[in-house]
Amino acid sequence: MNTSKEVETAVAAALEGAKIIQYYHQNREKLQVDYKGRHDLVTQADVETEQRIISEIRSVFPNDIILGEETTDGSRLTNERTWIIDPIDGTTNFAHGFPVFCISIGFYTGGKAEAGLIYEINREEMFMAQKGAGAWLNGSKIRVSEIQEPASALLGTGFPYRDLGLLDDYMLLFRKFMEETHGVRRPGSAAYDLVCVASGRLDGFFEYGLSPWDVAAGGLIIQEAGGIVTDWTGGDSWVEGKRIVCGNPQIWKYVSESIKETIAGNSLVHKG
Ligand code: IPD
Ligand code: CA
Ligand code: CA
Repeated sequence: MNTSKEVETAVAAALEGAKIIQYYHQNREKLQVDYKGRHDLVTQADVETEQRIISEIRSVFPNDIILGEETTDGSRLTNERTWIIDPIDGTTNFAHGFPVFCISIGFYTGGKAEAGLIYEINREEMFMAQKGAGAWLNGSKIRVSEIQEPASALLGTGFPYRDLGLLDDYMLLFRKFMEETHGVRRPGSAAYDLVCVASGRLDGFFEYGLSPWDVAAGGLIIQEAGGIVTDWTGGDSWVEGKRIVCGNPQIWKYVSESIKETIAGNSLVHKG
């Protein structure tokens, strides 16, 4: 597998960042948990890990733009060379010692995803993708599942906790999916959900209220694994559009149509 300098840099940065996360995971008495908002946790591990990842990237690419969850100034994605970082995706899991949390690093240029890396710390699973070259898990190529029928599909989602505006619609969707599929999982890390779709562990996934760092890497990994990723209108605003639906082609279609049937037209588009 021939990897770009950006992929190599992302791997090196993630392995360095992971040491900090593992240290705090094993020394939980040292972990201080703060709140960014109601239900929105942050720990010093998030902040230190992001700083470590940024310094690794800057040592190789000093002039690139970096959008990191813990250090962002609210900048939008432009056409410039940009790294989009979530130092710990699954902070609530991490704070509780629930073992599903990842580092997510996406690299964009011309506003498009070029490289993506997601490292799930507990399983030591390194997922990565390079535009046009494919997607891998620990060095082996991955593909989305071949499940065609909703009745045989396992779906993933995230339960909204900041913006509860679509809660009633969500309940209707859950009811439909519980009746028509093998069920819906909520592991607690959007990055992990996305690589589960890319590697065929889940057949489809949907969520709203997401930020660019939740999806920047995982979206590319799914595309490179043969899956489809869109916003809720079927468009390609899934990085900054806050609403994502993805899956293998058949199950993406089923989940997208289900969202459109269940959720009123206006609410399909993020308006914030
Ligand atoms: C969160 C996780 C979660 C999703 C939230 C995200 P964080 O990211 O990805 O699964 O439901 O919307 O904010 O806060 O743990 O980095
Ligand atoms: Ca996140
Ligand atoms: Ca985070």
